[in-house]
Amino acid sequence: MPLVVKADGLAAGKGVFIPNSKDECFKAAESIFNGRFGNSGNLIVLEEKIQGPEVSVFTLCDGERYVLLPTAQDHKRLNEKDKGPNTGGMGAYSPAPLLTEDCLDRIIKEIIEPTINELNKRNIDYKGVIYFGLMITKSGPKVIEYNCRFGDPECQTIMPLMDQNFVFLLEKCAMGNLTGDEKINTSGKVSGCVIATSNGYPYEYKTGFQINIGKLDSNDCQIFDSGTSLSENGKLLTDGGRVLSIVCQDKDFDMVFEKVYKNLKEIYFEGIYFRNDIGHQVRKNFSEEN
Ligand code: GLY
Repeated sequence: MPLVVKADGLAAGKGVFIPNSKDECFKAAESIFNGRFGNSGNLIVLEEKIQGPEVSVFTLCDGERYVLLPTAQDHKRLNEKDKGPNTGGMGAYSPAPLLTEDCLDRIIKEIIEPTINELNKRNIDYKGVIYFGLMITKSGPKVIEYNCRFGDPECQTIMPLMDQNFVFLLEKCAMGNLTGDEKINTSGKVSGCVIATSNGYPYEYKTGFQINIGKLDSNDCQIFDSGTSLSENGKLLTDGGRVLSIVCQDKDFDMVFEKVYKNLKEIYFEGIYFRNDIGHQVRKNFSEEN
């Protein structure tokens, strides 16, 4: 049957292969066993290939109760039209309109609550974020992965939507004092993020290029550094595969991504690469010529 091949250990989001044939399947397994992911590739996992859009659902859990945070959708493939190798994430938006109220209810009943009940049953006192990586298949939502952290780049889209009460929510979560009825206020805004990468990512790439930033629209826009460093004389340099993310918020996704891409035109480093179609699912004005 169609299979997905995964390195069993941590692989920075790059350990998943989606082969199209038996031959590709063997090649993926071989490349993992040949040390590409170090000890993370000592074991491989073979899973049934399921199909459908992926969404990220985050909860803050205080050990017993939880609060649902805004949902998000990541873009894992390197190239436009969701082609090319898997990456750690090339862009995201929040919330994910794909998750209707009915679907979210089902996720809560079939996935979130049973997970947290099971943690309780096993006396695992987990306080923090639970990230449910889900696929919405024809037969309903399925879990692809759990993480005990936020998603990157989903986190960059969600954090700017939070108001100052979020700090108190984190405190209640850490102290085990959530009521579970807390409301998240996002002021009706939505958020989007595009990642700028080094040429060659997720494979080999060069670093050390100077990053030049021109005139940015800073109204509800942020830049998050990830693969950057400062030179001795204070110049911002590329220092990783995913170099930085541009994030903006506004009333709708067309406005959000217009600002994101306008700001990206103001950022330059040698070999800069980004997808132009992040958020295509939710941009009413999106056309492939954009
Ligand atoms: N965006 C995928 C992850 O953080 O694992």
